[in-house]
Amino acid sequence: MQKSSLINMLENLKAQGHMVPDMNLLKTPEQIESIRKSAILNTAVLDYISKHICAGMSTQDIDKLVYDYTTTHGGIPAPLGYQGFPKSVCTSINNVICHGIPDEKTFLQEGDIINVDVSTILNGYYSDASRMFAIGKVSDRAEKLLKVTKECVALGLAAAKPWGHLGDIADAINSHARANGYSVVEDIGGHGIGLEFHEEPFVSYVAPKGTEMVLVPGMMFTIEPMINEGSPEFIIDEENGWTVYTIDDGLSAQIEYMVLVTETGIEVLTK
Ligand code: MF3
Ligand code: CO
Repeated sequence: MQKSSLINMLENLKAQGHMVPDMNLLKTPEQIESIRKSAILNTAVLDYISKHICAGMSTQDIDKLVYDYTTTHGGIPAPLGYQGFPKSVCTSINNVICHGIPDEKTFLQEGDIINVDVSTILNGYYSDASRMFAIGKVSDRAEKLLKVTKECVALGLAAAKPWGHLGDIADAINSHARANGYSVVEDIGGHGIGLEFHEEPFVSYVAPKGTEMVLVPGMMFTIEPMINEGSPEFIIDEENGWTVYTIDDGLSAQIEYMVLVTETGIEVLTK
């Protein structure tokens, strides 16, 4: 599409009351290529963790694997030093919703579920994705939460279409979570990404269909809903200022993909 007709289209949508991205949120083909490379490294880090994660290792061991693999391949772990975050990766176990900080005293145990959230800077370009891992045999409860979270994210991806809305993705995710008796965390969400770690827009996973920002080709953002067994409410660790726990100690799961809106659909950059 011509730049002038795109600007026109965005103006019209705005006049009709839709939220539209600023032009600087739409990535150029050159930027997309560079961000894609960052995302490929980020995926390789997660694949590497998948191979090594096991009962008995500490979350600090995961941190070291992430740091070493990333830096050996020319990248920088984006969380390290980000707003004072002290480690290279977030490791969130069981009732931790997100932003778990790796340490030497926390060991993975059979039956745990853990989210490993990896973010990478490569040549100044940012990528971000996370996966859930079941450590050995987990409870039926945990198994079901992992299965439904996977389904939620797949439905969210399927609902993402150029010229649709971010709320379409949220609605697909939230409806499926609720149909399974779960809740979706409201006040923490996804984000634009690529040139910065966290760009506009904020991505809600509880917004209604047809609301929030219009999906315009060139936009890049994360789909990373946090699905709770019980209440969506949370508390933040007072000591470290980061770790987010479920208020009722229920389990929480999260899967994160980074996507690009194209003319014809969306492309998952962190396969
Ligand atoms: N993927 C997480 C997010 O976007 C990573 C946070 S890193 C941290 O919120 F440094 F902020 F913890
Ligand atoms: Co993220």
